[in-house]
Amino acid sequence: MTDVTIRVNGELRAASVPPETTLLTLLRERFQLTGAKLGCDAGDCGACTVIVDGKPVNACLMLAAQADGRDVLTIEGLATRAALHPLQRAFEEHASLQCGFCGPGVILSAKALLDENPDPTRHEIRDAIAGNLCRCTGYTKMIDAIEHAARELRKTASDRLPVERGGLP
Ligand code: FES
Ligand code: FES
Repeated sequence: MTDVTIRVNGELRAASVPPETTLLTLLRERFQLTGAKLGCDAGDCGACTVIVDGKPVNACLMLAAQADGRDVLTIEGLATRAALHPLQRAFEEHASLQCGFCGPGVILSAKALLDENPDPTRHEIRDAIAGNLCRCTGYTKMIDAIEHAARELRKTASDRLPVERGGLP
């Protein structure tokens, strides 16, 4: 057995698992975080996407032991008790999903993009979610939602600036 300790959605979680256990299995079966989905189990569909140390990864391809000591964000960690994340709100408002199976992975790929590049072009958005397959939609409404959320996040960041710089609120 291998001992792993991972910061998941801001909380330290520990488990002892067989060495071949994937991060996806650890999240879903041991930590009951079932937002990341098991699709292809081969790195092709992106349904299992989570963010590890700021980068989107296919959790079906990463061993739990490789995530030891790292920071993992799953879809469960995106909203606060008070509100959905702007990406989640935008997906809802734009009716960007149908069955929803791909949703957590797409939204986390988009979050990783916006964290690095707050003002992406539609082409850059398309590239960022290219590893997330959706069998139901044509992606257009997802891209609309990600653009919208990016605008919201930029506005929130600029509204906050004067306060953070010690200027007028
Ligand atoms: Fe991981 Fe498809 S389940 S990429
Ligand atoms: Fe069904 Fe994307 S909404 S797979």
